[in-house]
Amino acid sequence: MEKLVIKGGTPLRGSVSILGAKNSAIAILPATLLCKGICTLHNVPNIIDVRLSCQILEQLGSKITWIDNNTLIIDNTNISKTHAPLDLTSKFRASYYLIGAMLGRSREIEVGLPGGCNLGARPIDQHIKGFEALGATSNLSQGKIYVKADKLVGTSIYMDVVSVGATINVLLASVFAEGTTIIDNAAKEPHVVDVANFLNSLGADIRGAGTDLIKINGVKSLKSNITYSIVPDQIEAGTFMLAAIASKGDLIIKNCIPEHLDSLTSKITEIGGNVEAYGDTIHVWATKRPSKTVIKTLPYPGFPTDLQPQMGVVLSLAMGTSIINESIWDSRFQYTAELNKMGAHITSQGKSAIFEGVDKLYGAPVYATDLRAGAALVIAGLVADGITEVYNIKHIDRGYECIEKNFSSLGANIERIVEN
Ligand code: EPZ
Repeated sequence: MEKLVIKGGTPLRGSVSILGAKNSAIAILPATLLCKGICTLHNVPNIIDVRLSCQILEQLGSKITWIDNNTLIIDNTNISKTHAPLDLTSKFRASYYLIGAMLGRSREIEVGLPGGCNLGARPIDQHIKGFEALGATSNLSQGKIYVKADKLVGTSIYMDVVSVGATINVLLASVFAEGTTIIDNAAKEPHVVDVANFLNSLGADIRGAGTDLIKINGVKSLKSNITYSIVPDQIEAGTFMLAAIASKGDLIIKNCIPEHLDSLTSKITEIGGNVEAYGDTIHVWATKRPSKTVIKTLPYPGFPTDLQPQMGVVLSLAMGTSIINESIWDSRFQYTAELNKMGAHITSQGKSAIFEGVDKLYGAPVYATDLRAGAALVIAGLVADGITEVYNIKHIDRGYECIEKNFSSLGANIERIVEN
């Protein structure tokens, strides 16, 4: 088993370059199935969920070649199967994108129900609603879902909840649908826009991605050879911004899109931190203890739920009492029990948590409960007095490429230990 051992107390200083967005890459990889040819993808994060996605595609018949650590070539000329392996698809959330992509390509797919971070209920009713509105039938049994359509016909679909996954999945399924599909109350996250941009670069006709109303005019076919670069990961960038504030450090964050982080930048400024953005770079620094605030997580462009745990670390050290309302997930405060082991004073109740700021955190053995909780515990270890050991770091490796290398390059005393 592996753990991260961190000796806290060093303010982070230096520059870091942001990789491609996990939540875009693990949607665009299955989206390549709509192309009966070759896609070259640049700026692909080399993380567990991406490697899992590649394994699943290869089992369907894709030929995948990594030409460097973050560039891969996918040849989907000969996709032979319509059954994705249950043992792989149940390991993470984004396997459900195989449904939309294979509905578009071959009108049939059987997938093991998705897994993913334990954040409470993670239904896929809106995905099914979209597929069935387009003319598909679905059958859920024994942990698998089988979806089939004789043909797909464009229609208007109103999402009952703003859902990143359902928006992207209906985008994928409607590319070849006859006529026009409207997705109303659509998610507007940067990775939704990135998937639409990727599909349009293949020759799809998608308009309005990034707004809450997306229009897809069905096309007969797509190009058979394209090159595309994944959008920078605003959640990885935000994680480093909050690490700078928590450690009273000074970071230059390169290869990002500052506008994708406006809600975080506003909050950091409100609590006394400093942010300057220029081009594809953000300069973030703090010289004093943060002040209290109230956070409510919301769909983009609101404060992102995927930065909520990392902000929780900052607020656990802020002056005064802060509140976080988690409006997206039922159970995303599991990390607060681990922070309390380090001396934080956090009371969580359902979808809200109260943070009574303390002067210091103290090193302790803590356990990552999900991907972003794990990143938050690393930040806590970076600022705590003493030694912190973070366990269950496979969660972190699902979404961050060698997190310890990046933080070490910024002056942190952090190493990965393999325990037998
Ligand atoms: C994506 O999950 C991300 N994962 C999550 O990031 C992120 O937290 C979430 O979007 C919100 O931004 C990936 O992209 C792989 P949703 P997704 O569908 O698509 C409800 C991370 O750390 N809902 O936008 O599963 C749902 O219960 C991960 O990178 C339904 O009710 O999220 C939730 O309350 C964690 N029915 C809300 O909508 C549905 O059919 C938003 O979920 C679908 C969703």
